[in-house]
Amino acid sequence: MPSILADLTAEYLTSIEPPADDLLEEMEAHARRDSIPIASREVATLQRILAIATDADRALEFGTAIGYSTIQVARTGCEVVTTEVDAERIAAAREYAERDGVADRIEIHERPALEALDDVEGPFDLVFIDAVKTEYSAYLERSFPMLRTGGVVVVDNALWDGEVADAHATGDPADEATEALLEFNGDFVDHPNLEAVVTPIDDGTGIAVKRD
Ligand code: DHB
Ligand code: MG
Repeated sequence: MPSILADLTAEYLTSIEPPADDLLEEMEAHARRDSIPIASREVATLQRILAIATDADRALEFGTAIGYSTIQVARTGCEVVTTEVDAERIAAAREYAERDGVADRIEIHERPALEALDDVEGPFDLVFIDAVKTEYSAYLERSFPMLRTGGVVVVDNALWDGEVADAHATGDPADEATEALLEFNGDFVDHPNLEAVVTPIDDGTGIAVKRD
């Protein structure tokens, strides 16, 4: 996913990133090689920050992929319940989690996210919305009752490579994902029980906290 930032700013931010450890580097290379859409380093770091800040015990993630952000949240001591439909990616995620010593804190549901939720119980301290873009509104609606007050939501790809802003300007969304994200972002920032913002971090990152 190309950056929505000006090149110079994107390059600068990359230049000040601390090096990742060997396992994360290996996972990033794996994702690049097989074109697997893992979270960016910034978004994974943001999740770790929020997991630590909220003293999170349990996180719910929509879209495991190979477990890149899953493992990083689990490293904070948080249990992660996550959903993924691709068996090969799940196998890779399990193997990486084993190697990292965090497998016992990760529960992967091998089903479409909205079906998996039938077997998931809250409460959660952190919800990470990724996976199928046209389902973001349903993910928020279904996970919201399971999120504790003071719990946080992180949303990946909220600006969708600039397409969402383009659709806002032209009134003509390029695809269903763009249309869904445009509607989702509006509902997210207007949600009566969320303090929410859509930021230009990476591919557009929504951040919210649940209030009374
Ligand atoms: C795609 C999906 C993602 O979640 C992402 O972070 C980047 C790209 C995609 O489907 O193209
Ligand atoms: Mg994503």
